Amino acid sequence: PDPGWYETTDVVVVGSGIAGLTAALHLREAGLHVTVVTKVNIDDGSTRWAQGGIAAVLDPLDTPAAHAADTLVAGVGLCDPAAVDVLVEEGPLRVRELIRLGAEFDRNADGSLMLTREGGHRANRIVHAGGDATGAEVQRALHAAVGRDPWIRLVEHALVLDLLRAADGRACGITLHVLGEGSEDGVGAILSRAVVLATGGMGQMFAATTNPSVSTGDGVALALRAGAVVTDVEFVQFHPTSFVGGDIHETQRPLISEALRGEGAYLVDGDGERFMVGQHELAELAPRDVVAKAIHRVMLATGADHVYLDARHLPDVPHRFPTITAACLAANIDPTVDLIPVAPAAHYASGGVRTDLRGRTSIPGLYACGEVACTGVHGANRLASNSLLEGLVFARRIAEDIAHDLPPQAEPAPVESTPGWVVGEEARVPLQDAMTRGAGVLRSANSLAVAAKELTRLGGTRGTPRTASWEATNLLTVASALVAAADRREETRGCHWREDFPSASDEWRGHLLGAIGPDGEV
Ligand code: SIN
Repeated sequence: PDPGWYETTDVVVVGSGIAGLTAALHLREAGLHVTVVTKVNIDDGSTRWAQGGIAAVLDPLDTPAAHAADTLVAGVGLCDPAAVDVLVEEGPLRVRELIRLGAEFDRNADGSLMLTREGGHRANRIVHAGGDATGAEVQRALHAAVGRDPWIRLVEHALVLDLLRAADGRACGITLHVLGEGSEDGVGAILSRAVVLATGGMGQMFAATTNPSVSTGDGVALALRAGAVVTDVEFVQFHPTSFVGGDIHETQRPLISEALRGEGAYLVDGDGERFMVGQHELAELAPRDVVAKAIHRVMLATGADHVYLDARHLPDVPHRFPTITAACLAANIDPTVDLIPVAPAAHYASGGVRTDLRGRTSIPGLYACGEVACTGVHGANRLASNSLLEGLVFARRIAEDIAHDLPPQAEPAPVESTPGWVVGEEARVPLQDAMTRGAGVLRSANSLAVAAKELTRLGGTRGTPRTASWEATNLLTVASALVAAADRREETRGCHWREDFPSASDEWRGHLLGAIGPDGEV
């Protein structure tokens, strides 16, 4: 649709979680005017749901090399070592900056930061806040800092649609739909000298996810439509332990943080047996993909839709894990006396819009940061608590790059919005079901073909342009990309598990770099 109104700024940041708000604050340090666009309210993204914490080397006995080694092992050969070095070297500085900004992390009696452990880490290096409410505290601190700066304009209830580009291809703004303003009446444009995508993830592709309802892959879908390089989308991480029995909103399940296992909780099957012992030297604290697969196998073998987490022997769970305790109690499960029913749920997109070490995508002027991006730090499976860290580290790098080299505002070429139509909003639920059955934790050529067929059918539906149908269209775009990539990758690696190709293959130790359209075409 043609924009009905225009405004201008130096940089438009799309998304208001840790990546977007951190980028906005650093851009302001460089004296630039910033507009932050967010789909619902400023705090409604994934960041505030993060529990476990932020991984960073803050213990004098720990080292960046050790953090890098754990990250590379979790990523199963697909991490970019240079990006991982940046993450682990700059991470501690960025966490300290966040503390100076006002974020309050949990501390020991002597005032030092309390550090915990999660899956795949061989050292205690995870800072947390409010016990298991780290994301909420980080979001609070960033929101407060952004609110103190009158030169950060915030546009809420605005769904990004497409990238605006100048005649030379450079990104020079976005079109957006300001929600609640009628069908096409609310479509406008923000012209800018650079665009930062920080739209988060795409967990809403699946019928069970830890992601909030806004995580519909809007940034990756925009990038695919614009022809940016998108990669590693087949690597959607399933968190091993989402709570079964007390959904937050539609498909969003409460997370049961890995930190609970970090503090000593066990995974047990229906007979009360610990099944991770003997499967991996780190048992319940093996990398996330290993634990999710083991749980899935138990569920397949027993026909149950969950296993259990046993935290009854831990001291003071209600105080150390208040968020988890509240979610359990709301469903009449008391973690101090009951086993907690858990199952894997879609949690994190390790892939996304490909960037370099300065957050630059393949389109000049377009940057990507946080879960929407594929910086190379996660490879085939993200290490626990590296996600908030990635947002902090690369947001700063992006701001530095923009401040260093910002061309004048370019004139946008006429918008060629693709696909030019929207699917019906009712496509969302069948899409989630098809993806869960065919492209979930365990995949095969057959299951992916069935999912692809259903996506093709859903792609034939048509809706009227409004938030729900645009979201369904974005979900269809990213789901089609995922299915095509997962079908191509004939191996098992990290969180991509193929029943018909059960091992990793050296041939596949690389990335699928093509932009994949809604029709699955590469
Ligand atoms: C958790 O608390 O288990 C989630 C942390 C993460 O996703 O890294």
